[in-house]
Amino acid sequence: MAYTALYRVYRPQTFQDVVGQEHVTITLRNALREGRLSHAYLFNGPRGTGKTSAAKIMSKAVNCEQPIDGEPCNECGSCRAITSGSVTDVLEIDAASNRGVEEIRDIRDKVKFAPSDVKYKVYIIDEVHMLTTEAFNALLKTLEEPPSHVIFILATTEPHKLPATIISRCQRFDFHRIPLKVMVNLLQKICQSQGVRVEEQALQLVAKMAEGGARDALSLLDQAISFSRDEVRASDIMQITGTVSQTYFSVLARSIAERDVAQVMEQFDQIMVQGKDPEQFLHDFLYYYRDMLLLKTAPQLEEIVERTMIDDQFSHVAELYGFPELYAAIETCNQALSQLKWSTYARVLVELTLVKLCQPTAQQAGAPAAAAVQVNHEEVNGMANRIRVLEERLTQVLQGQVSLPTQKSEEPRKVEPKRIAAAGGGSRTSMNRVREVAKAMDENLTRQVRGQWSQILTDLKKVKIQYQAWLVNGQPVAASSDSVVVTFTSPIHCDKTMEPELKGVVERVLQSVLGRPLQLLSIMEEEWQSVEQQVGQKDTPAEEQQDPFLTEAIKLVGEDLVEVKD
Ligand SMILES: Nc1ncnc2c1ncn2[C@@H]1O[C@H](COP(=O)(O)OP(=O)(O)OP(=O)(O)O)[C@@H](O)[C@H]1O
Ligand SMILES: [Mg+2]
Ligand SMILES: [Zn+2]
Repeated sequence: MAYTALYRVYRPQTFQDVVGQEHVTITLRNALREGRLSHAYLFNGPRGTGKTSAAKIMSKAVNCEQPIDGEPCNECGSCRAITSGSVTDVLEIDAASNRGVEEIRDIRDKVKFAPSDVKYKVYIIDEVHMLTTEAFNALLKTLEEPPSHVIFILATTEPHKLPATIISRCQRFDFHRIPLKVMVNLLQKICQSQGVRVEEQALQLVAKMAEGGARDALSLLDQAISFSRDEVRASDIMQITGTVSQTYFSVLARSIAERDVAQVMEQFDQIMVQGKDPEQFLHDFLYYYRDMLLLKTAPQLEEIVERTMIDDQFSHVAELYGFPELYAAIETCNQALSQLKWSTYARVLVELTLVKLCQPTAQQAGAPAAAAVQVNHEEVNGMANRIRVLEERLTQVLQGQVSLPTQKSEEPRKVEPKRIAAAGGGSRTSMNRVREVAKAMDENLTRQVRGQWSQILTDLKKVKIQYQAWLVNGQPVAASSDSVVVTFTSPIHCDKTMEPELKGVVERVLQSVLGRPLQLLSIMEEEWQSVEQQVGQKDTPAEEQQDPFLTEAIKLVGEDLVEVKD
């Protein structure tokens, strides 16, 4: 039996099925009931929140022979034909592909003809922000004088890239991230109808990781189902995604509040031994502190503490922190995270950050932590020892005893042997390589990759279903003669696709579809945005001219603590 991904099986077929977007679906249903139709709609919002699904439902609702309360019946001839995709009057265009551009040009000539099988011709233009100027102009002409039998539904995640002239001609609907509770409910129902047993905590975790995108949530659930045996457990999700359990954070946060550097280092080491990614760790730890701050400022708003399950342990640890400490901790993690993006010494940087969190100076003047323990000599010695070790590593690097990684993402592992041994992969893409691709971007090739992307995914799936699932949320954003940059919104997917095995398979598929060898470079969407900005501004960021390791170390712990020995 052919395997179908959950998010394809559970594609909403009525407005009621589109969860978490009631502000959109109720308005649309009212308009449909009252026959107040607009000729152009703009569906805007984050990935995987139901834009394309709602557009499809809309195309059925306007053409349905017996609509029920603004919903398509899904049973009449038109509904069935549209669902199966056999109605030529309902056209889905992917603006990201080459064909998109041709089809837009085509629209101008064809709109004037009345639809043959149904009442309305509906053009759904997905990723509309990807259209070329030329195609936008063609579209604008049509939007200016749309024939009465035509409805356009434009969908995009990036409305700011649309010309104002287009936006002003559309009725705009903003889709939101799906709230945590709503997402958990959706996942629960799906598990029930699939006959899958699942821990409540596991669903909470999946929903948190997906950050409001249902497609991400469903593909993670898919992976978890194939990964676990009888029941999907929270620990399975943590293992798949590389997240650190809340309990670890609480233990660590307690040791930090007690300024017990030696303990903190040991606990962090345990987390790393499990193969967690240091950057992901720090990201999650920052959110842990952020949730603590929310809990302390607005305890009645438990609902907004979406990432953290409030348990007794969490509340107890929260009592150890005062506001100044929390602000300082969040700030420290945040600074370190922004430096991590450009660093190949992830683990060392995170260690330095933890040391810094333990320092009273990092916690600025203000009320000391309620349970702040007086610093004793043993602790001071522990910290001094730790810093000595870090300094030694730094000196080794500077003296060239340990080779300085330059480009390849695998190289930093020389300095971090533990990470290779433990981590099942999760290498980070070199930003230098990404910048090179951005500079040498080949527009034609980029279009070609986007155009063939669904083919690439299909081929990947033939190799192994999970391979496609990992890549399906990626966006190819740039290609140069030797590499393709693919962006992700989920760090899980991003890291996973850089693991040697999967990366190798993807590269083979790229070669077979595109007819040339291309290296895969996976990065997070925000990272790509900052690369785009940088490349737009200047050739090399100033930071690169100094020794990045040294700069980062000094920024983190301050100059007094870093002593460079020649
Ligand atoms: N609001 C929602 N309610 C229920 N399921 C949803 C919702 N949004 C997304 N999904 C699930 O995710 C899948 C993909 O959704 P859809 O294609 O509509 O998202 P999209 O907003 O168009 O995303 P993109 O911006 O990536 O194109 C659906 O098939 C469905 O399984
Ligand atoms: Mg879509
Ligand atoms: Zn119908």
